[in-house]
Amino acid sequence: MNTSALHTSALHTSALHTRPWSRRLRGLLDAPAHWQFLDTPAEPLSDAVEALPLGPYRDALHGVWLGHPLHPALVQLPLGCWTSAGLLDFAPGGERSADTLVAAGLLTAGPAALAGWVDWARLDPPRKRTGLVHALANTTGVLLYAGSLLARSRGRRAGGRLLGLAGLTAVSAGAALGGHLTYRLAAGPDRAAAVPRLAPTDWVGLGPVDDFPPGQPVRRTAGELSVVVVRTGERCHVLAERCAHLSGPLSEGTVVDGCLRCPWHGSEYRLRDGEVTHGPATAPQPVFETRVLSGHLEVRLPEAG
Ligand code: FES
Repeated sequence: MNTSALHTSALHTSALHTRPWSRRLRGLLDAPAHWQFLDTPAEPLSDAVEALPLGPYRDALHGVWLGHPLHPALVQLPLGCWTSAGLLDFAPGGERSADTLVAAGLLTAGPAALAGWVDWARLDPPRKRTGLVHALANTTGVLLYAGSLLARSRGRRAGGRLLGLAGLTAVSAGAALGGHLTYRLAAGPDRAAAVPRLAPTDWVGLGPVDDFPPGQPVRRTAGELSVVVVRTGERCHVLAERCAHLSGPLSEGTVVDGCLRCPWHGSEYRLRDGEVTHGPATAPQPVFETRVLSGHLEVRLPEAG
């Protein structure tokens, strides 16, 4: 591509990025994160979600067993059912199937919502605000679909369709905010995903082994990357320092039963291999290969060898 074509392409891209409707949409989606008044209901609600006696099911709802957040997978069920119901409502002979799909959407919305709430309770305030508006839109959608099902069961098909369309509008708005929360506000992605690109490709020294007190996490720098060193007996474990959940500083965490617990939301990573033993994190924490040369600790990513 020549220089003038590059220039034209850059201008075109820039024009796309500055279109007023795009800015307005972005502003709309960004706004809830700034609504501090939402902190008032968010705090007791968060405490109530944390107090739910879920036991090991809390980790299951986060998606620790799956290695991926469970909520985005579960929401496909009600959204798929309701979108299909919206189409069948207007297809000849599709009424009965539409009714079944509205009911199936309501049944599957419960587990999807519960998984969302347990994830939400471990977010920070700005993301909790957006999450709360997301939940409000979805709850409105559920209520509208419940009304739609009731109207359908009483033979009021036109009212049932109308309530269904209103429900679909509400859950679509909720889905847009959910997507914004994930992609723009980064509430779900693996925050340690960039580690393999930033990590040094060769062995890097972290200092004398004697500088690392047993059982106490210590922060060090390996190339451009912060790492945390935990010495247990003769062995040193080295993990990426920023938690895969929301980038909490693992060097300020605590060592519990061979795992490192994040100080922010309590995710626990096994020192040996970085696997998640407790959520909310679902992605493993990158672990470095180590060696000791003349009493000095060195690290590199396992893939580098
Ligand atoms: S930042 Fe949330 S558990 Fe580590």
